[in-house]
Amino acid sequence: MSDIPELHTERLVLREWRDEDLEPFAAMNADPKVMRYLVKQMTREESDHRVAQIREHFRIHGFGKWAVEVRDTARFIGFVGIERVSFQAPFTPSVEIGWRLAREAWGNGFATEAARAAIAFGFDKLRLNEIVSFTVPDNVPSRRVMERLGMTRDPAEDFDHPFLAEGHPLRKHVLYRLPRSAFEKGVP
Ligand SMILES: CC(C)(COP(=O)(O)OP(=O)(O)OC[C@H]1O[C@@H](n2cnc3c(N)ncnc32)[C@H](O)[C@@H]1OP(=O)(O)O)[C@@H](O)C(=O)NCCC(=O)NCCS
Repeated sequence: MSDIPELHTERLVLREWRDEDLEPFAAMNADPKVMRYLVKQMTREESDHRVAQIREHFRIHGFGKWAVEVRDTARFIGFVGIERVSFQAPFTPSVEIGWRLAREAWGNGFATEAARAAIAFGFDKLRLNEIVSFTVPDNVPSRRVMERLGMTRDPAEDFDHPFLAEGHPLRKHVLYRLPRSAFEKGVP
């Protein structure tokens, strides 16, 4: 039996990755609309490598970016979850929340619904003090998820992503934070 936690929401299951997820995950990582604000579309090999990294993160830390499935259809739609930030920045060490869904799954509130479960896990079970999130300023759909979750941004904390070279169009990022105190007051 796996010891990877499984989270259930009204419409979704956040579960361990299965080998059958690799193909639909690679398809979404090759979709230019899904990858518009990410560095580049991924090859099948790069996509599989990302899943291997996610599985390794779960193995080491006991949490990570879960595979998300719609309960009604058992369809895999992407990932939502929490991960340790893998680079150094003024706000690290920290745990970030992130999401990437297949285009057909957008516009249903799935990212926000799954993220609420991941946040509750992070604060209630992992006893984190804070969860952050970041993206490029133009990624309005992702920023809207952050805002729906009650995360807040201070423009003074905008930062340049250290993995991207100076002059790269996606280098500048906005940072959102959700402290435990805000979660305990009740996120929207
Ligand atoms: C970021 C991303 C996950 C957001 O997806 P999304 O579907 O817009 O976000 P949500 O799941 O929270 O859904 C909210 C939308 O569903 C609508 N919705 C429909 N039914 C709903 C319901 N029952 N409950 C809640 N919202 C519902 C909302 O009105 C909202 O639409 P709006 O933004 O047009 O007002 C998606 O755009 C994506 O995967 N992008 C590519 C990857 C990416 O950029 N990831 C982030 C990198 S930092």
